[in-house]
Amino acid sequence: MMNDGVRIDPWGYSQSTDYSTIIEQFGLQSMSGLDIPSPSKLHRRGIIFAHRGFDMILEAKRKGDPFGVLTGLMPSGRMHLGHSMVIDQVRWFQQQGGDITIAVADLESSATRGISLAEGRKIATEEYVANYAALGLDPSKTTVYFQSERSIVQRMGFQLGKRTNLSEFEAIYGFDGSTNLAHVQAPLVQAGDILHPQLDEYGGLRPIVVPVGVDQDPHLRLTRGLASKTNWFNLNEAKMGLQVGVSIQSENSAALGVDANGRVDKARQADVFAKIVAAISELGFSDILSNPKHGTVNIPSATYRDKLSISMALLQLERNLGGMGLLAPSSTYHRFAIGMTGDKMSSSMPKTTLFLGDDISTVEKKIKKSFSGGQSTVEEHRRLGGNPDIDVAYQYMMYFFEEDDAFLSEINQGYRSGKILAGEMKQLCIDRATEWISELKEKRDSTTHLVKQFFE
Ligand code: TRP
Repeated sequence: MMNDGVRIDPWGYSQSTDYSTIIEQFGLQSMSGLDIPSPSKLHRRGIIFAHRGFDMILEAKRKGDPFGVLTGLMPSGRMHLGHSMVIDQVRWFQQQGGDITIAVADLESSATRGISLAEGRKIATEEYVANYAALGLDPSKTTVYFQSERSIVQRMGFQLGKRTNLSEFEAIYGFDGSTNLAHVQAPLVQAGDILHPQLDEYGGLRPIVVPVGVDQDPHLRLTRGLASKTNWFNLNEAKMGLQVGVSIQSENSAALGVDANGRVDKARQADVFAKIVAAISELGFSDILSNPKHGTVNIPSATYRDKLSISMALLQLERNLGGMGLLAPSSTYHRFAIGMTGDKMSSSMPKTTLFLGDDISTVEKKIKKSFSGGQSTVEEHRRLGGNPDIDVAYQYMMYFFEEDDAFLSEINQGYRSGKILAGEMKQLCIDRATEWISELKEKRDSTTHLVKQFFE
């Protein structure tokens, strides 16, 4: 999207790392202030830096209610460290009790990267899912599927297309008249990916969170908008408490008691409003003001914290009346690790990253050559200190290899003060990285038999 500020392009090769501007410009919520149970290192270190509606997931978890996780992979190259960040998060969500669904975006990569469906399948299985098993995802609680094979995601994409238009795509993605239509279809299929796990056949109504890199936020903005546009009942903050607004659309007007000429069937309308009141009072509210004429129901004593449970009750009612009842998805966003050379990390530029299948000598070579935040001479480094914020070896310890916060802060200070030299930092990273990569390889060998279970 081209505003005056930064640009987020899910298919682009450049990516802004001005995270505070991104938060502000796109209206993301900052992670700070959320009370996250047993936070992972990515949470503790501010690498997961923003979200949309993540509080709903935390609320579901607190209440012991089910929640799901949906993310996706583009099968277009070898799996690298950057990709493993999402899997770290998926594993964390799995430990928190979430059920996991992972989309293989084979339609998207065939349309936007020229990878055939057969190639995409091979890459997804041998590169990605083999590593998911090695990284410790539990296959009995994880489902991986191919976009090309799950017709429901394509059908939903098609149906949701009715709720948007080219102007919105232009505003969100910066598309214009020359945009290939595959780029128009891909976000709609992705909306299908994100929303289908809450359908009754795929686990039913529950909050779904999408952990992704911030480059994917345009898709979440689109999908959250599409979901709310389909909703029959909207819930908003009112002067006092919360207010339900009934949204009459061509799909639901008959069910809600309005005929084609706009005439109201009073009995049917009264029945719908009685059902709304009943659904809300079941949650324990007694003061409920129903106003069919205005198309509203007010709950003066409800607070922001009741939003999730009331929304869920209304969506369930919508489903009972024949609607889709889609809850807008939540999302969390992680920062991008810097590429080893200082460029963006990318599988098309092998020197910028470590691949999970790299051998030890390659790992060592890449880290030795990596971009350093040290000074140009030892003397200067001792005097002025190094900069861990731009030092690739330190950054890779922080993002990937070092679990212990105390040790990390020790080497951070040591580097800044000049006590630890750039070469020493690289050696620390090489030691950890080679250990990590060789352990992963061993696990890959011992978990190959699990791979097919992820597709079941
Ligand atoms: N577009 C994503 C990428 O480029 C892949 C993807 C497809 C995805 N469907 C998804 C990601 C659903 C998150 C949720 O990597």
